[in-house]
Formats: sequence, structure tokens, C-alpha cells
Amino acid sequence: MASENGYVVGVVGATGAVGTTILEVLAKRRFPVREVVPFASERSAGKKVEFGDDKVEIRELGPETIQGLDLVLASAGGKISAEWAPKLVEAGAVVVDNTSYWRMHDDVPLVVAGVNDDAAGDHNGIVANPNCTTMQMMVALKPILDAAGLERLVVSTYQSVSGTGREAVKELREQSKAILDGKEVEAKVFPHQVAFNILPQVEQFTEGDDYTTEERKVMRETRKILDLPESVGISATCVRVPVVTGHSESVNVQTERELSPEECRELLSEAPGLVVLDDPGDGIYPLPIAVEGRDEVLVGRIRRDPSHERCLNLWVVGDNLRKGAATNAVQVAELLHERDLVRVPARA
Ligand SMILES: NC(=O)c1ccc[n+]([C@@H]2O[C@H](COP(=O)([O-])OP(=O)(O)OC[C@H]3O[C@@H](n4cnc5c(N)ncnc54)[C@H](OP(=O)(O)O)[C@@H]3O)[C@@H](O)[C@H]2O)c1
Repeated sequence: MASENGYVVGVVGATGAVGTTILEVLAKRRFPVREVVPFASERSAGKKVEFGDDKVEIRELGPETIQGLDLVLASAGGKISAEWAPKLVEAGAVVVDNTSYWRMHDDVPLVVAGVNDDAAGDHNGIVANPNCTTMQMMVALKPILDAAGLERLVVSTYQSVSGTGREAVKELREQSKAILDGKEVEAKVFPHQVAFNILPQVEQFTEGDDYTTEERKVMRETRKILDLPESVGISATCVRVPVVTGHSESVNVQTERELSPEECRELLSEAPGLVVLDDPGDGIYPLPIAVEGRDEVLVGRIRRDPSHERCLNLWVVGDNLRKGAATNAVQVAELLHERDLVRVPARA
């Protein structure tokens, strides 16, 4: 619970692609922070990160260092969150977790701010932030679901390398330079060369499944967030492209009731957190380079699927580090604050 001067906020994974963006967004927005406590691995402990005009010393996670926190925004990977989120909750903090570990747990709400805010009311100490690819699609689909219902979704993604973290960004830069210099390239983070290439694999294939773990996340998380019954078909193909930041998606939406492209455009123009850019004849449509650093999701190329009268095609682009991760985590923190939910419920 916050004192009069605001909350003590822990940021776990504070040196990573998401963590540094959380610090940036948290400093920029007017969230009541009394103190920020950055955490990273032992490699970084003792170094400093920037928070607004301050430089704050990084800690390692430990039984003593996690005491006294009100709220924690975590993005240090699933293994760290699996182990440390319960310990942080036990120590009195509410955890907004960016990793995939807690998202599908029944007692953990999966919240896209502006889409299913009320779900946060049921938290038991942990609120999960959805996968970046799923997140931006939810912002565009919620108004369509409310206006015309959903029958089927087919999504193909074009995902940037920063979705895999800072080492992946380094790999794209190094490979691009090596290729332009006529040198051999080495693939360490991705299974193949990513520069000047596209990879029809985001994350891993698991035994007996011909969809990747990322594709499974998009399908499962979409159903949980929008509370869609099994009768609504969802199909995802996730592809990695050599873009630094900003995921793009081609979304084919089949609605229950007919929705014209004009109606859809109007609906989405009025929706919070969305910007419609849709004048393709003049070259106006969403681009990843245009969304970098923006908190809104961009949507365009809204058009009728000529093969079905109740299907529309959309092009949805979001900054995976902003609305896809950090901005949503901070917006969830804001809504927990506004609803007096920055408190760990007493256990029965
Ligand atoms: N990138 C995205 O667009 C995105 C979007 C949504 C969700 N996510 C999720 O967010 C998480 C982080 O992703 P990222 O892209 O930010 O990765 P990243 O750039 O590789 O950063 C990883 C962070 O975790 C820290 N860390 C590693 N081991 C640790 C330990 N033992 N204790 C404490 N901190 C530790 C690292 O600290 P050191 O500097 O000390 O190594 C670093 O701060 C992942 O679970 C990812 O799935 C990412």
C-alpha cells in the first residue's frame, strides 16, 4: 500500500529491453513513485540505471533485498518470475509480470489495459501482462468484438527482433554489418541468420506440436483476455523479420454480424489507445518505424476480405516494448492504483 508520497516500485530485469523501457515509461507518466528499486542479475548488481534525472543502484534478488516493496514490475524471464513472484507477493508486493510463466494460471488475471481492466480486480498478488504480439491485437479487436461479435480470427505476424531482448538486437546489427562487409555471419540467438532474411519460427517448437510456443501463446491468450468460447476459431502464424522494434500483424477477422470497412474504420478511430492510419493510395498505413516509441497501436489497410462477406482484413502495428510490454505494465499499475488494488489480498 502506498504511503502519502507514493509507492516503492521494484523493476526486475531493469537492464533488459523491457526493463529499461519500463523505467522510461514510469518516469514519464505520472504514476506515484516514492522510490524505484531496480533488480537484475548478479552481473549487474552495484551498477546504476537511469530513472528520470536520477541514477539508481541495481540490486540482486534476495530474501532481504525484496523487503519493503509495494509493487513490482517484472521482466527477467519466466524462470525468474516462477521463482520470485510468489516470494515478492509473500513479502507484501503486488507483481505485474511480463513473462509468460503466470499468464495462463487460472487464478492470475491477464490484463490488457483498456480492454479487460475489470479482470485485474480478481488478483491474488500477481497480474500478468500478455505476450506483446497478442497485446496489440487485443486493442484492435475489442471494439470489433463489442460491436459485431467474433466468429474466427486468422493472424500472421511480422515480429521485430527486440521482442527477443537486447542480445537479439545486437545480433541483427552485427549480422547486417557483417553481410554488408562481405563477412561470414554467426547465428547465436536465432536459429538462422535473421539479417536480410525472415524466419517462420518465433520461439520454439515443442515435441509433437507443429505450432511454435509463440503461436500457442497468441491463440490461448487471445481466448483468455477476450473470454472467447471454443467455438471461435483462432489460427496464428508467427514470423520473425529483420526489424529492430515494432511488431506488424495481418489480421483476418470474421464477425458474427456484418461490419463494413467504413463502419470498422469509424469504430476503431474512436477507440482508446488506437490510431487509424488508412489512406493507402497516399502511402498512409501503419509502419513499424512509425510506431517505435509510441504508446498507441496503429491500424490501417482496413478492407473487406473478398472471399467472405463477414470478414475484414486489418494491418495492426505496435511497439512491442511499449504497449506490448512496458506501457501496458505501467497502465496496469495505474489501474491497480486507481482502484485501490495495490494490496496483496489476505489469504484464507
Ligand atoms: N522484448 C519484448 O518485446 C517483450 C515483450 C513482452 C514480454 N517480454 C518478456 O519480458 C522478459 C524480458 O524480456 P527482455 O526482452 O527485456 O529480455 P532481455 O533484454 O534479455 O533482458 C533480460 C533482463 O533479465 C535480467 N536477468 C537475467 N537473469 C536474472 C536474474 N537471475 N535475476 C534478476 N534479473 C535477471 C537481465 O539482467 P542482466 O543485465 O543483469 O543480465 C536483464 O535485465 C521475457 O520473459 C520476455 O518474454 C518481452
